[in-house]
Amino acid sequence: MIRWLVVIAVIFFAGAAASAPADKARGAKIYIQRCLMCHGEDGDGGGPGAKRLNPPPRDFTEALYKFKTTGTDEPVPNDDDILRMIRDGMPGTAMPGWKDILSEQDIIDLVLYLKIFAEIEEEKPEEQIDYGTEIASSPESIAAGDKLFHEGERCSECHGRDGRGDAVKRLKDDSGARTWPRNLTKPWTYRVSTQPRDIYRRITTGITGTQMPSFADPKSKKKLSIEERWQVANYVASLAASGQPVRAENTVIKAARIVGALPAKPGDAAWDGAERTTFFLLPQIIAKPRFFTPSNDTITARALYNDDEIAFLIEWDDRTKSIPGDADAAKIAEPDMGPDAVAVQLPIEPADGSEKPYFIWGDATHPVNLWKWQSGTTKAPETVEVMTARGLGNVDKRANGGVSATGIYDNGIWRVIMKRARATADAGKDLQFREGEFIPIAFSAWDGSNGENDRSHTLTTWYWLQLKPEAGAKPLLAGILTALILAGLLIWWARTAKARPESGA
Ligand code: HEC
Ligand code: HEC
Repeated sequence: MIRWLVVIAVIFFAGAAASAPADKARGAKIYIQRCLMCHGEDGDGGGPGAKRLNPPPRDFTEALYKFKTTGTDEPVPNDDDILRMIRDGMPGTAMPGWKDILSEQDIIDLVLYLKIFAEIEEEKPEEQIDYGTEIASSPESIAAGDKLFHEGERCSECHGRDGRGDAVKRLKDDSGARTWPRNLTKPWTYRVSTQPRDIYRRITTGITGTQMPSFADPKSKKKLSIEERWQVANYVASLAASGQPVRAENTVIKAARIVGALPAKPGDAAWDGAERTTFFLLPQIIAKPRFFTPSNDTITARALYNDDEIAFLIEWDDRTKSIPGDADAAKIAEPDMGPDAVAVQLPIEPADGSEKPYFIWGDATHPVNLWKWQSGTTKAPETVEVMTARGLGNVDKRANGGVSATGIYDNGIWRVIMKRARATADAGKDLQFREGEFIPIAFSAWDGSNGENDRSHTLTTWYWLQLKPEAGAKPLLAGILTALILAGLLIWWARTAKARPESGA
């Protein structure tokens, strides 16, 4: 009996501790310490750190919570909705997750404090999202969702044919800030998650304060039934799974050897024989002028080689095809549009074990080769130039660097091929590509519509390139044979060991 009383008491006190009433004063204290710098003293999103952020920090005085699970026309979010965003943060934005720094009680106190900015601390939401019966993902439901996504350009109108957020439209949120429809193939940019249930919520309520509409709205011509919304959610989740995520352990581009000519087109099936490697692109914030507002975040590379040549296929998602001189392109671009561009950076000497050049344009003792492709304008075709750089201010253009390049833009993705002979006549000026060596490699990209040019661009740090020696049948067979012989020897050793008298006895 006493044991039961103890159990009940423990449950009671544990419960009481977890749900202590929210404390406004504590919330205020934590807010000033942790949130004010972005969200501002008055909660209006005007903190000292807010200027460079896109999307801007939320203005809490308007109660415009983007990611809520209350009904479409319901202005008040659930406490849990706010709590979840504070706890987990918002990927792809400056909003950090706080679960490692703040306790559950801290966050509960903050939720109350945030609601006071919009005077909704007393209000309880009346309407919740109707989930109906969830439809599990299947090839059929994904196909149905695909159709609804594109029907009358319901979603592709903004998110693009392949979901890369590249539909050519200039969008602004209610505060006048430029917004971009999400690139649905990049799971790391979803603010909440890529679970069909979270996507269903977004399709149902829309994203408050932005042009992402509600598709449950009975007044909308593009309205979707509950069943249809699950199907679209399953399709979108499948798009998210189709992206090329960065895997931290993949630091080497493995160039595959082929027999015969290297492919001249990005769509060539020969590329399927080369492994894709994806890297993060970071804004150039080290040298002045520093650049803080990138639009591209990853770049994917593959490489093939034969006896004489090496070719790279470089792919990156870019919402805008930037064509200086083109009136339609100018409509969605920032004022000073340049062409899109990409550069491959290689040391002139392979670093094998020794020091690598400085990762931005090399240095005086370790020069680099830069192969830079540019997409061209309405008047001039695409170009490729080869440069030797010994630091940012010290760049020589080469008259004929022997690199050829060509790019194709297709529904939100650039695919550029660059090709060169493995060996050149001038080993003092050009990297020579030898099998097996680990060669440092880095990339830079420029989104011309985002005002990127010169030093305002994104780049990767050094990674590696290796021309994988041919994995012919012979070495493989030899490997298997060695393994078999070793296994046989081990068995023989174990058997004879049993029969042997113990040594030293
Ligand atoms: C470094 C800047 C930064 C800091 C610090 C920061 N935030 Fe944010 N926060 C943002 C940005 C940016 C957004 C908007 C993201 C968007 O619109 O997609 C945001 C959005 C939010 C949202 C909106 C969620 C929704 O559904 O719309 C909440 C709630 C929030 N922040 C709470 C907090 C709290 C509480 C703290 C302090 C513990 C905090 N933030 C600290 C930058 C910050
Ligand atoms: C009029 C333009 C427009 C249309 C049409 C549109 N969206 Fe969006 N969508 C947006 C914008 C803008 C955002 C980004 C909002 C933000 O976070 O600032 C977005 C964001 C999203 C997100 C991101 C959710 C997250 O967690 O980050 C999903 C998923 C999404 N849309 C799905 C859809 C689907 C599915 C449809 C069609 C049923 C659709 N959208 C139609 C403009 C649109």
